[in-house]
Amino acid sequence: MANKVRIKFWKGEGWQQFRRLLIYFKPYWKLIAIAFVCALIVGSSGGATTYLVEPTMNKIFANPDKDAARIYLALIPLAVIAIFVFKGIFRFLQNYILRIVGQRVIREIRNLLYEHYQALSVDYYTDTNTGVMMSRITNDVTIMERAVPALTNLFREPLQIAFLAGVAIYMWWQMALIVIVIFAVSAYPVARFGGKVRKYTRRGQERMGVLNSILKENFSGIRVIKAFAMEAYETMRFRRENQRLYETNVKRVVFDEISAPAMEALGSLAAAAVIFYGGMQVVNGTISSGEFFSFVASMGMMYEPMKRTSRMYNDFQGALGASDRVFQVLDTMSTIVDEPDAIEMPPIREKLALESVHFRYPGEKNDEVLCGVDLEVKVGQTVAIVGGSGSGKTTLINFFPRFYDPNQGRVTVDGTDIRRFTMSSLRQRIAMVTQDTFLFDDSIRNNIAYGQSEADLERVVAAAKMAYAHEFILSFPRGYDTSIGELGVRLSGGQRQRLAIARALYKNAPILILDEATSSLDSESEREVQRALENLMEGRTTIVIAHRLSTIRRADRIVVLKAGQLVEDGSHEELLALGGEYARLYNLQFQE
Ligand SMILES: Nc1ncnc2c1ncn2[C@@H]1O[C@H](COP(=O)(O)OP(=O)(O)OP(=O)(O)O)[C@@H](O)[C@H]1O
Ligand SMILES: [Mg+2]
Repeated sequence: MANKVRIKFWKGEGWQQFRRLLIYFKPYWKLIAIAFVCALIVGSSGGATTYLVEPTMNKIFANPDKDAARIYLALIPLAVIAIFVFKGIFRFLQNYILRIVGQRVIREIRNLLYEHYQALSVDYYTDTNTGVMMSRITNDVTIMERAVPALTNLFREPLQIAFLAGVAIYMWWQMALIVIVIFAVSAYPVARFGGKVRKYTRRGQERMGVLNSILKENFSGIRVIKAFAMEAYETMRFRRENQRLYETNVKRVVFDEISAPAMEALGSLAAAAVIFYGGMQVVNGTISSGEFFSFVASMGMMYEPMKRTSRMYNDFQGALGASDRVFQVLDTMSTIVDEPDAIEMPPIREKLALESVHFRYPGEKNDEVLCGVDLEVKVGQTVAIVGGSGSGKTTLINFFPRFYDPNQGRVTVDGTDIRRFTMSSLRQRIAMVTQDTFLFDDSIRNNIAYGQSEADLERVVAAAKMAYAHEFILSFPRGYDTSIGELGVRLSGGQRQRLAIARALYKNAPILILDEATSSLDSESEREVQRALENLMEGRTTIVIAHRLSTIRRADRIVVLKAGQLVEDGSHEELLALGGEYARLYNLQFQE
């Protein structure tokens, strides 16, 4: 899985990602520079506090000169307050600045990503899992946000450690060396535990992803599940995945919880050495008790920054991994783009045509779906396409709005290749009604006027009337302002289709591409949809994948598609008389 990508930054693998990520932070470089200065101040404050332990002990507690001790007694607490107030202010500034910058950057990247998704062509969407696309924009971008804060803290925390170590060495360098050796030796097992925790965290996220996709599938397919009485089976499937998630999480918990005690045990080793050897030195008078405690405090205060450093490093790694996934999407090029000098599509005057079109879907194993299709549709005509399931009908109509481009041959309008036209102008001139109607969670009025910025109610009503949708829309409590979400699943198949037809009528495009719904409606509803369609087709150049006899009868011409080729072409009567593929299909489908 993509999640497994582990960027070995120190080996240069993450350098590219990091550089690219920095581009998005660049506009804020001044703010980030301020944050670094703040981090410098915060980083040095720890050392300053432990440094004060020595005068506290030696100048106050162990000072034979009581007057001098009193002066220090007044000064040192003030110094402590000053240090912490200072530290607090700069720490706040640092974190505040970086988090705001982080939020701005993710806002930007999210918008870019969404824009990019919108621009990608249809084939990308057929090949990519929706859940994965969503997680890029929700999770991955959020993880990326942490890159720069993590980086600043990767500067601040080691700095803190360095200052504390500096104080420790200054106070007592021999002992400091011993403790550093102990720490260095103990770093290895601790790092190993950390690695395990990361591994199981990642695996847990993957399992959670699987669980999510099961949920998505089940909720949207609940009718099928119920119809097949598969509730128990689906519950089992869910339980199994959930169990896997549990097992991964248990492993993570073990390693997560073991690392702190392990670290403390090793720490105690250092502490014991310090007390034993250090106590001896203090008793012997080699070092003062002030130096001793200052040393101990410095060492003790190193624990937190060390823990934070490792966490920040993980955050940083995570951010690089996430940027890798996001950049992959941003680097995916749309397969269908406007030519640089594309022109506005002029009004269609004469004909629409496919010229020896060959096509196979992207992918190694796919066979040719269309092998040399020629088709001409005169302006104002209706051409019906019939053919068995899988013969390539839907594929064929998808060329007109350029959902796909043919591999060979061309699609033309009045002899000009449609690739010469800008996609937006081309698509403006085409209205499409597909087998499954998609309605947005918005008012009926806006659904009908979809694609137009301002919904003109008069035109919406006119379109709805022509689509025989006006009456049932008025029967809803809020009429045209009723939202689709409010209605939930209460729209019947026929009603949905009529809304789709109203939408196409409202668009009022000269070219109409129609993929008739295969599911049969009851005869009442069927008649209304049929009449709505007649209104829609009126005066438009129409290509329709026909499943209804009435549509076929109305068509000026019928073409028959079989195994990727047009095998017959003519009127209903002509083709019946021919007694070929059309006659066969007709007898199968429409004979009743
Ligand atoms: N995205 C795709 N990737 C690969 N192959 C595809 C894709 N879409 C369709 N096909 C294949 O292309 C062939 C033609 O499909 P198409 O959808 O055009 O058939 P159709 O004539 O519309 O069928 P139906 O009447 O069942 O809707 C089929 O063999 C199908 O499996
Ligand atoms: Mg189809």
